[in-house]
Amino acid sequence: MKPSEERVQQLPHLVRLLMLLTAAVVLVLVVVLTKIYGPPAASTPVAVEDEATQGPPPAGSYHRPATPAPDTALIPRTAAGRQIRYGRELIANTAHYLGPQGSVLHLTNGMNCQNCHLQAGTQGFANNYLAVAATYPKLRARSGQVEGIEKRVNDCLERSLNGQPLADSSREMRAMVAYIKWLGKDIPKGKKVYGTGFMKLPYLDRAADPVIGKAVFAAKCQSCHGPAGQGQQLADNSGYQYPPLWGPHSYNDGAGLFRVTNLAKYVKAAMPYGATFDHPQLTNKQAWDVAAFVNSQPRPHLRTTHDWPDISKKPVDHPFGPYADAFSVQQHKFGPWQPIEAAHPGKSN
Ligand code: HEC
Ligand code: HEC
Repeated sequence: MKPSEERVQQLPHLVRLLMLLTAAVVLVLVVVLTKIYGPPAASTPVAVEDEATQGPPPAGSYHRPATPAPDTALIPRTAAGRQIRYGRELIANTAHYLGPQGSVLHLTNGMNCQNCHLQAGTQGFANNYLAVAATYPKLRARSGQVEGIEKRVNDCLERSLNGQPLADSSREMRAMVAYIKWLGKDIPKGKKVYGTGFMKLPYLDRAADPVIGKAVFAAKCQSCHGPAGQGQQLADNSGYQYPPLWGPHSYNDGAGLFRVTNLAKYVKAAMPYGATFDHPQLTNKQAWDVAAFVNSQPRPHLRTTHDWPDISKKPVDHPFGPYADAFSVQQHKFGPWQPIEAAHPGKSN
C-alpha cells in the first residue's frame, strides 16, 4: 500500500472522531446553558416521618406548620371549588349543620371537627389533616380493615362527636372528603409530613396522675371549659364557644382522645387555647396529668366489641382489655408505659 492511499483510508476515522467531539461539546453546552438559564430545579420534597418533638421543623422539611396548608383563597371558583368550601365549612362549624339543632341533619353531640382538628385541620400537631389524602386508604389495626377517608370521617362522627355516620354518597361526606383531599393535594402519595397528627411527648417515669391533673385543670382549663368540664354554649345554643371535655355532650370512650397519650399530646401542642407545639404553655408533666384527670371523668360509652380483632396490636395505652399481656387496665390506661413497651419489643402508643 502507498502512503497516499493509507492517508485516504484514515480520513473517515478522523471525520468520525471530529463529529463525536462536536457532539460532546454541544451536549456539554446544552447542559450548562439549561443549568444557567433553565427553570429553577424544584426543591426535592423531604418527607419527615412524624419525628417531631418540640422546636422548629427540621431543615428542608416539606411543609412548615407555620404555613402548612394551601391558601384557601386559591380554591377554584367552580362547582368543585364550592364543594371544597362547603367541606371546610362543615369541618369548622359542624354543629351548625349536623348538631342537635343542625340545619341539614341532627347527627352529632354539638361539637365541631375543628374543636380537635384546629384551624380546620391545618394547625401543626393539632390533629392536622395534611397527610390524610396521601396515606389513605390504609390498613388500620383498630378495625383490622383497609379504611378509606369516608370510614375515618365516620369514625370521628360516631366516636369523637358521639353521633351517627353519614352515607358515603351524601353531599356532606363528599364535601368533607373533597376538602381533606384538597388540603393534601401537594403531598406525594405515601408521605407523612412534619406537623401531621400529634407531636411526640416523652413519657414520665411514673404513671400520669389524675389527682395532680385536677389541680392543673382548675388552674389552666376551667376558666373556659367550665368547672364541670361541661364547656360553654353559644348564646343561641347552636353549638359551643368552649367545647365540653367530659359529660354527656363530650367525646365517647371509643374516641381517639380517650387514650391518655393522644389527649396529652394534643393538650401539650394546643391548650390552653392559643398554645402551639412550638410555643406550648404546659410542662410535659402538666400535660400528662391533666390528660389523666380529664379521661377519668364520666362520658358516653360506645360498644366497641369489633375493635382490635388482633388484641396484640392494641397500643400500649389502650384503656380497655383484653390485653395480650398481664399488665393491669390501670397501668395500660395511665402508665408507666415503659415496662409494657419493654415486654413487647417494637410496640408503642
Ligand atoms: C373530640 C376530638 C375530635 C373531634 C371532634 C373530631 N376528631 Fe377526627 N380525630 C380525632 C383524633 C384524636 C384523631 C386521631 C386518632 C388516632 O389516631 O387514634 C382523629 C383522626 C381523624 C382523621 C384521620 C387523621 C389521620 O391523619 O389519620 C380524620 C380524617 C378525621 N379525624 C376527621 C374528622 C372529621 C371530619 C370530624 C368531624 C366530623 C372529626 N374528625 C372530629 C379527634 C377528633
Ligand atoms: C382560653 C380558653 C381555653 C382554655 C384556658 C383551655 N381551652 Fe381547651 N379549648 C378551647 C377552645 C376554644 C377549644 C376549641 C377550639 C376550636 O374549635 O378552634 C378547645 C378545645 C379543647 C379540646 C378538644 C375538644 C374537646 O372539647 O374535647 C380539648 C381536649 C381541650 N380543649 C382541653 C383543654 C385542657 C386540658 C385545657 C387546660 C390545660 C384547656 N383545654 C384550656 C379553649 C380553651
